[in-house]
Amino acid sequence: MGLLDNVENALERGDFTELGRALQRQQMPDTFRVLLSPRVIDILTPQLGSKDIVNWIMRPRTWDIGSYKPGANFTNGETLLHLLWQDLSSRLNRKMDVAFQKVGLPATGVVLCFFEGAELSIIVGYKRSLHGVLSFRPVTAVFRPYGVFELHHLLASCSQEQRHLIKSAALSVHKLVFQRGVLTHVDRQAEDDICGPTIDTVLLGEELAVWLENQPADSRLIALEVGPGSGFLSSLLAGAECVERLYAVDLNPSAVKCTLKNLYINGASLKALTPKISVRAESFDAAEFPGRFDLIVSNPPYLPLSPDRDNQTDSEGYGLAVGGLRLCQDIINALEEKLSPRGRLLLMTSSASITEIRRLLPADFRIIPVMDGAGIRVPLDVDSMWEDSEWRKHLLLEKRIEVDENGDLWHYIQPMWIDRKPEIANCGSAGDGNSPAI
Ligand SMILES: C[S@@+](CC[C@H](N)C(=O)[O-])C[C@H]1O[C@@H](n2cnc3c(N)ncnc32)[C@H](O)[C@@H]1O
Repeated sequence: MGLLDNVENALERGDFTELGRALQRQQMPDTFRVLLSPRVIDILTPQLGSKDIVNWIMRPRTWDIGSYKPGANFTNGETLLHLLWQDLSSRLNRKMDVAFQKVGLPATGVVLCFFEGAELSIIVGYKRSLHGVLSFRPVTAVFRPYGVFELHHLLASCSQEQRHLIKSAALSVHKLVFQRGVLTHVDRQAEDDICGPTIDTVLLGEELAVWLENQPADSRLIALEVGPGSGFLSSLLAGAECVERLYAVDLNPSAVKCTLKNLYINGASLKALTPKISVRAESFDAAEFPGRFDLIVSNPPYLPLSPDRDNQTDSEGYGLAVGGLRLCQDIINALEEKLSPRGRLLLMTSSASITEIRRLLPADFRIIPVMDGAGIRVPLDVDSMWEDSEWRKHLLLEKRIEVDENGDLWHYIQPMWIDRKPEIANCGSAGDGNSPAI
């Protein structure tokens, strides 16, 4: 029985015992997604006197334990909201406790939490007492925060108190993101050359989590992440029962350090003697990895540079993280040899680069689009686009990117799966591989 069935049963019967167990059992929890179900909205609306999900989340009865005085009466809807909040805050509590041991976090701050990919984001404020006790409350919630990943964009729609909390978080050097049970920390100052988590990461994370959840119970996958950056996707992979071995490689040594930090925060076993996970600081070279992979994941640099700049290697920092298609090309070139017969690649692409990706794909492989193949329109805030006006004009002319009335640039990010065409995968022409078929 799925979580949603449990929720509907509990609301109907007024018995939340089984739902409480189901919430605890979740491996890659996506707790608040149930509030987006039309059925649940229909049941909760009359009970809560409003159809406004943000209002449901912000009500003290949802998050404030002080509301639970003896004799107080709660509707089933209120009990559901409180259970969801308890699940989220107890999971945050566990991960934040480890983060506090590992990183010098301030006593107050916020965590950006994502549900159903980036459909719903709850900004959760935390406070740590002098005795180390953590408490949480929702600051605000936002639907589809595409392009508003940086918190200052949210200020306009908030109360004074919320604004204060959001401002101090936006100015904080600590970026904390929680999705699917994984907490990711990036120090915006000390790790300023690290890319992610961004909206791309959140979309890929959701796609990856859904796929991992649907693997047969006895799957033992060998996975590779190319370019883990902050390490969010690698942490998700490391926590999945079906992943037996995980490799990650990033040419930026500080990204490797950040990935290891976040693997640690998320409880991954990093023992040298019994390695399940290897993280390497080097440029991706398929030949350096043994055997084949059942799963390759990458959010690589995906913006094509003009043909005369593509050979240059002078980019650094964020430019290196997003510019040029060299890494895409290296990954796609490695598929024939490195993907197990039924293996898959999960790749982030952009409307700016999709033409090149299709061109690079070997004939035996196919693209399985995600999100109806439409992608999501997000701001294109990258220096390289402004430094090269001819190339920008060219991409605009080809409608690969867009410009709005304020002169801001936009593009569509499109996660996609790539695998062998079924007739090729089924006839076994791709070799034996070293791991079970997916
Ligand atoms: C767009 S960021 C993605 C980070 C992270 N996976 C995420 O989704 O938030 C791309 C990452 O690829 C790394 N990278 C770029 N070229 C690479 C290469 N040739 N080999 C290994 N990593 C590379 C960059 O250092 C950067 O961390």
